Amino acid sequence: MSRPVTDPSAPLPPGGGEHGDAPEPLLQVKDLGVRFGAKQVVRGLNFAIAAGEKLALVGESGSGKTITALSLLRLAGAAACTGQALLQGRGDLLAMPEREMQGVRGGDIAMVFQEPMSALNPLMTIGRQIAEILCLKKSLSAAQGAQTAIELLAQTGIAEPARRANSFAHQLSGGQRQRAMIAMALASAPRLLLADEPTTALDVTLRGQILELLSNLQRQTGMAVLLITHDLNLVRRFADRVAVMEQGALVEQGPVDAIFRAPQQTYTRR
Ligand SMILES: Nc1ncnc2c1ncn2[C@@H]1O[C@H](COP(=O)(O)OP(=O)(O)O)[C@@H](O)[C@H]1O
Ligand SMILES: [Mg+2]
Repeated sequence: MSRPVTDPSAPLPPGGGEHGDAPEPLLQVKDLGVRFGAKQVVRGLNFAIAAGEKLALVGESGSGKTITALSLLRLAGAAACTGQALLQGRGDLLAMPEREMQGVRGGDIAMVFQEPMSALNPLMTIGRQIAEILCLKKSLSAAQGAQTAIELLAQTGIAEPARRANSFAHQLSGGQRQRAMIAMALASAPRLLLADEPTTALDVTLRGQILELLSNLQRQTGMAVLLITHDLNLVRRFADRVAVMEQGALVEQGPVDAIFRAPQQTYTRR
């Protein structure tokens, strides 16, 4: 009659608690709702991300993944957001003054998008854009910023990083642009990276490379990652846990192994 006492489906907090209690999550989202006018596009969302954890948010197109990430950074435009998003050491992202939020954006939390052209300034070299963040967020001098920008580009595996630092976005290939955007996101040493379909616009070989890059950088820096995707292969290869969205609500979440082995919801099985 002996049964295992540990619950294999319970998520193991990476790092563990200092005092043996469950550690406070890095980000705890409570009852998040997002509404555009009369249209409720996200409702009743509850999830947490531990420090250093890789959580995948999956769901079909239009299920509310992007708007969830944007609302955490208060970049959801005209949307009305309700609920709480508690960031460790900062408090509720949805309630803090805009001025404090500016310190969180591209500081504690960075974001990379599917389309790097929308995130890169077309009129400024890649190196200068990264150096600006380093000067602003890390108080580096202009010369230090320029040098560190090249090092960050090198970390992303870009060939000839010093030359690329002097390039404009339109002079780079799609894969190089994606690496440059990742370098820019890493410039502030974020505690949490929101990666919204970071490989969707790339061809299949590049997809694998960029995913591996994110994986390596996550390991090196210890940052947590929220990976938004509709590609279940990426989820399996990258994430510790997965949360499944359908029509604005979370229908299932748990460790990747468990969900791939035995999806509870018909939606997830599909
Ligand atoms: N600015 C906006 N105004 C009105 N509706 C929006 C806006 N942005 C997104 N939506 C709606 O919110 C829903 C979720 O969109 P989105 O988060 O982009 O989905 P996903 O990223 O999962 O594909 C969709 O129905 C979309 O039409
Ligand atoms: Mg989206």
